Amino acid sequence: MIVAVTGPTGELGRAFLRALQRDGAITRVLGMARRPFDRGDLTKLEYRQGDVLDPEAVDALARDADVLVHLAFIIMGGREETRHVNLTGSRNVFKAARKHVERLVYTSSVAAYGFHSDNPQPLTEDVAPRGSERFYYSHQKAELERALGEEFPGAYVLRPCIVAGPDAPMLLRQLPPKPLLIPDPGTRFQLVHHDDVATALVAATKGEGEPGAYNLAGDGTISLTDLARATGRFAYPIPRLLLEPAALGANLPLVPTLAQWVNALRTPVIMDTGKARKQLGWRPRYDSRATLDELVRAIP
Ligand SMILES: NC(=O)c1ccc[n+]([C@@H]2O[C@H](COP(=O)([O-])OP(=O)(O)OC[C@H]3O[C@@H](n4cnc5c(N)ncnc54)[C@H](OP(=O)(O)O)[C@@H]3O)[C@@H](O)[C@H]2O)c1
Repeated sequence: MIVAVTGPTGELGRAFLRALQRDGAITRVLGMARRPFDRGDLTKLEYRQGDVLDPEAVDALARDADVLVHLAFIIMGGREETRHVNLTGSRNVFKAARKHVERLVYTSSVAAYGFHSDNPQPLTEDVAPRGSERFYYSHQKAELERALGEEFPGAYVLRPCIVAGPDAPMLLRQLPPKPLLIPDPGTRFQLVHHDDVATALVAATKGEGEPGAYNLAGDGTISLTDLARATGRFAYPIPRLLLEPAALGANLPLVPTLAQWVNALRTPVIMDTGKARKQLGWRPRYDSRATLDELVRAIP
């Protein structure tokens, strides 16, 4: 099986490449992102530099593959830049997939559901991914799932919660420097380890279970206070209603996107992962707390 991967150099991509290298059913891996990348001991990988905004580059990547896995995305960035890469780039990928491959795997996100107080808890895949208008990452993820339904019905759509682990430090990098305080509205949230997302990506790549949406999260939950303590910071409780970006304080060096995430945490978004366990045979090795511990151990 030949697998093409967009965005293999990212937090999830690197874990996925290692998992593909270990899997005997995968013969070749074709990877494409913009930066140079040294494949090291990933002997199955043929890496090329390319941009998902270039339809010809995407077409050439998909042409030789059986399965296309689309990970390329801008998570932390401005509204316009992210919109261009995420929507136009992803549409290029979906179109090339329809032309060339038998299976498409796309990583959406828990954020696709949006942060709505009338959503059930925990969320199952039956809940419509409505997104949240004022949180543009969430809005784009929901919009893209709709586009995917038109361009490639029958794709695998994985919806991880926040990903963390030794190779996924984005969560830590977004925290304010010590000893600043983190406001905690008390809402609990899930984490998933990058290696556990990688095993789900491999299962989808190989066509386990039925195509469709799959929630991915480690067992259990953590709070922002747990995150603060584990990283040598302090948290203070704040009523959920007060939690607007402005309330975080003008002097906190938070990028707008993190302020949006924290603000979004006013509404809990806990996912049920029973479908992935049943259909993909997914058995995550790390729960949410162990994922946090792995992250902090690797990046003190
Ligand atoms: N990390 C999380 O917490 C999380 C949670 C849920 C879902 N997800 C989803 O999982 C997917 C992968 O996320 P990640 O954490 O691996 O993100 P990441 O670490 O930011 O990596 C993004 C990847 O996309 C590539 N990329 C960005 N723009 C590109 C372009 N124009 N053309 C080609 N490649 C491009 C990047 O490489 P270059 O910069 O070199 O091009 C990189 O390989 C995304 O769809 C994300 O939304 C992530």
